[in-house]
Amino acid sequence: MKENQYLTFALGKGRLAGKTMELLEKIGITCEEMKDKSSRKLVFVNEELKLKFFLSKGPDVPTYVEYGAADIGVVGKDTLLEEGRQVYEVLDLGFGRCRMCVCGPERSRELLKHHEMIRVCSKYPNIAKEYFYNKKHQTVDIIKLNGSVELGPIVELGDVIVDIVETGSTLKENGLMVLEEICPLSARMIVNQVSMQMNADRIKPLIAKLKEELEKEK
Ligand code: PRP
Repeated sequence: MKENQYLTFALGKGRLAGKTMELLEKIGITCEEMKDKSSRKLVFVNEELKLKFFLSKGPDVPTYVEYGAADIGVVGKDTLLEEGRQVYEVLDLGFGRCRMCVCGPERSRELLKHHEMIRVCSKYPNIAKEYFYNKKHQTVDIIKLNGSVELGPIVELGDVIVDIVETGSTLKENGLMVLEEICPLSARMIVNQVSMQMNADRIKPLIAKLKEELEKEK
């Protein structure tokens, strides 16, 4: 890697970015500028370590990494599955653990069992498609929503939802339940495929150190 070139991280704005910085700090990577929570800045630099961090919307993280605008990204497995970008997934960071599930009211259980034509509301149409078409071989009508998808079955837009379940309290408070589990999720570190070769001298030791730290925490 050329001298004076920054290693660039794309982080999903919010909790995931905070957790990532906590973890990086444990292996000696810090970014003082980022600690000011009231800041609206999007790009932060550690001149000494030649590191750059930028904050984007979660679903855009794999896009920045695939195109090489960022060398490294941290993003939820849900986003990786949904976006289907060409990146290397190198580490499970262990935080942000939750599950992707099919949820709905009790009455929808039978519809799932008998492979009936149902309507599925989701922020994750690709994950829903992959699960119902390729895994369950069930033809469904997928309706893309942008959030608060629990509303779908409540107002009878759909029969079930495909969504993230963490504590389960959103489901409970809205009279819904987990009907089927699709997969476990957590935060992952991803790397641009070219950077992995070209910046191997910086990226590989970083991954090794993080792995070691994560092992210690187990
Ligand atoms: C996510 C998800 C569920 C909720 C699950 O929503 O879509 O609604 O969290 O968490 P729980 O099991 O701990 O209740 P988010 O807060 O990201 O907002 P959104 O509905 O706008 O996507």
